[in-house]
Amino acid sequence: MDSSQRSDLQTMHASRYEQLVQTVADYAIYMLDLEGHVVSWNLGAQRIKGYNADEVIGRHFSMFFTPQDCAEGRPGWLLNRALSTGGAQDEGWRMRKDGTQFWALAALDVIRDEQGEVVGLAKITRDITDRREAALQLDAMRAQLFQSQKLEALGQLTGGMAHDFNNLLTIIIGSAKLAMTSRDPQRTERLLQHIVDAGERGSQVTQQLLGFARRKVQSTSRVDVAQLVRASQALLSQALPKGIELLVDIQGEVSDIEVDSGQLQMVLLNLIFNARDAMDAEGRIELVARNQVLQGEWDGLVGDHVLISVRDPGRGIDAAVLPRIFEPFFTTKSFGKGTGLGLSQAYGFAKQSNGCIRVESESGRGTCMTLCLPAWQPPQPDNLQSE
Ligand SMILES: Nc1ncnc2c1ncn2[C@@H]1O[C@H](COP(=O)(O)OP(=O)(O)OP(=O)(O)O)[C@@H](O)[C@H]1O
Ligand SMILES: [Mg+2]
Repeated sequence: MDSSQRSDLQTMHASRYEQLVQTVADYAIYMLDLEGHVVSWNLGAQRIKGYNADEVIGRHFSMFFTPQDCAEGRPGWLLNRALSTGGAQDEGWRMRKDGTQFWALAALDVIRDEQGEVVGLAKITRDITDRREAALQLDAMRAQLFQSQKLEALGQLTGGMAHDFNNLLTIIIGSAKLAMTSRDPQRTERLLQHIVDAGERGSQVTQQLLGFARRKVQSTSRVDVAQLVRASQALLSQALPKGIELLVDIQGEVSDIEVDSGQLQMVLLNLIFNARDAMDAEGRIELVARNQVLQGEWDGLVGDHVLISVRDPGRGIDAAVLPRIFEPFFTTKSFGKGTGLGLSQAYGFAKQSNGCIRVESESGRGTCMTLCLPAWQPPQPDNLQSE
């Protein structure tokens, strides 16, 4: 190929390339001279900015910027940056011929001749108004979602408190009614004590609420399970109808645990009320506490644990319902009877205490709910820890 053939080929390539650039409609592609005057104009530029080639060629590219950007010297700053570093990128509002604005993503690159001299600049601009709006909408949706999640959490919290107070009020009202008709002074005193205990428990719940408002985590301490269960027994059986008996079975020397004891009491109350609701006003609920060494069979838990089970011979849980019982607000009870928060609280309590809650149930054959909590471990002396 001789040099004239090569030059013909180059001219052909150049004009094809020119045609290609001209027909691109989604990008404004044009060239600027070293001072920033427009020297070429493609279809995309015409479409995006609204000017024909003869209206812009020879004019300064600052005409596409907003008056504010011009006043701040943005076009000149971009030009200088591209000339000194070889290229510049920018994102911002640009003006169309009709005075409307669009959000532009722009790149400015220097063009060199064969000797490496900078002879001008190539400017590529995209209209990404839609993309920006979609991103803004997404942000707004995220903010809204966050807001509604906050409301949901607040709903759960207030619902949970209502749930706890309801259970305590059941005890208070029940005991007060019995005390009013009781002729046995000793029994009356016992009933009044239950009222005091439930009332005090209620004030602890409000303390929890205040603690939550101040982001206090639950207050854990070393708890003697047998003692806590026995102490709760009187209170718990008070809440049950006459025909339902509560049998407490502490199997052997049950280890201590480290939990928020007030919350544990509320969880036990929930489990026992659930058992009561599943029974036809008579039968026996068993509350069993025992030690168990786990090897990962329950939620991957390993080591010494204490299991506290509440077993009832009630109607059991349908296989279809079983996967949902720990969901907040899930209830099969009629409106006003259940909030559906009891088990979600029990679940949250077990998780926060580094344990788990298990359910065994079959429709028509009763239910056993088991809290599994790590046994209390004596603190390791420092010298042992560092070895
Ligand atoms: N011992 C049980 N026997 C049968 N079904 C149970 C038992 N415990 C829980 N369930 C089922 O699980 C659902 C959820 O229980 P959860 O304690 O979370 O809420 P709830 O008891 O319905 O309402 P609340 O606790 O506010 O009174 C119950 O509605 C019930 O269908
Ligand atoms: Mg319940």
